[in-house]
Amino acid sequence: MRNSCSLLLLTTCFVLSGCRQDMHDQPKYRPLQLSGLFRDNRSERPLLPGTVARGFLRADEGAYTGKVNGQAITTFPFPVTKEVLIRGQERFNIYCSPCHSRTGDGNGMIVQRGFSHPPSYHTDRLRNAPVGHFFDVITNGFGAMQSYAARVEPQDRWAIIAYVRALQVSRNARAADVPADKQAELAAAPDTGPQKNPEQTGSDTGTGLEKQPSAAKGTGGAQPNPKQETK
Ligand code: HEC
Repeated sequence: MRNSCSLLLLTTCFVLSGCRQDMHDQPKYRPLQLSGLFRDNRSERPLLPGTVARGFLRADEGAYTGKVNGQAITTFPFPVTKEVLIRGQERFNIYCSPCHSRTGDGNGMIVQRGFSHPPSYHTDRLRNAPVGHFFDVITNGFGAMQSYAARVEPQDRWAIIAYVRALQVSRNARAADVPADKQAELAAAPDTGPQKNPEQTGSDTGTGLEKQPSAAKGTGGAQPNPKQETK
């Protein structure tokens, strides 16, 4: 009798432990469930002030806002290499050239179709503007221009700015600006004849489309009106 009793107990123990529900029935909150534990009755706790997600520390204020103590910074937060410029060129052509054009004169295709004309990058004001200002414009938008923060990573914003600087320099570059050790390469380069000076074509003023009717009489009627506002 004693033996069979302990055997029964043993079997019961095995059976019960075989289907333990503890892990399923543990005390826990389902999403958005009320909780009496906290004063606001929310079981989902808000982040503590100052919480930083992994990979988002962003302690370098200048690199992520373009400003330090409210002042636009004047230097790039990392060295500008050829790779950075190539990346910047690619991103610029994707995200900025539709309005600012590939040369930065502001005659992009969307502008030719009626969008507000951005200022040319080749004005003294923007040539002298600190790089931090460009970062701020891309990050927060500027007037009619929207923010590109959601589409262009901070690293790429700086790459774009480096390329904008290259565009600005190239407008006024002279053969003498080529470093001494590259002068020989320049002299050996095939002569492509006189370069068309974009300044002389008046591409900084007007949209280019405006000039078409007089150049090709009769076909002008089919051109969209560049003055048309799309807003
Ligand atoms: C959809 C058209 C559009 C795109 C795309 C665009 N911009 Fe602009 N941008 C504008 C317009 C319009 C202005 C003038 C805004 C104003 O003055 O109201 C402007 C102004 C600017 C200015 C001048 C700010 C100043 O101080 O006057 C800079 C710099 C600039 N954009 C940089 C960029 C860069 C860099 C990109 C790409 C990441 C870009 N923009 C993409 C339309 C655009």
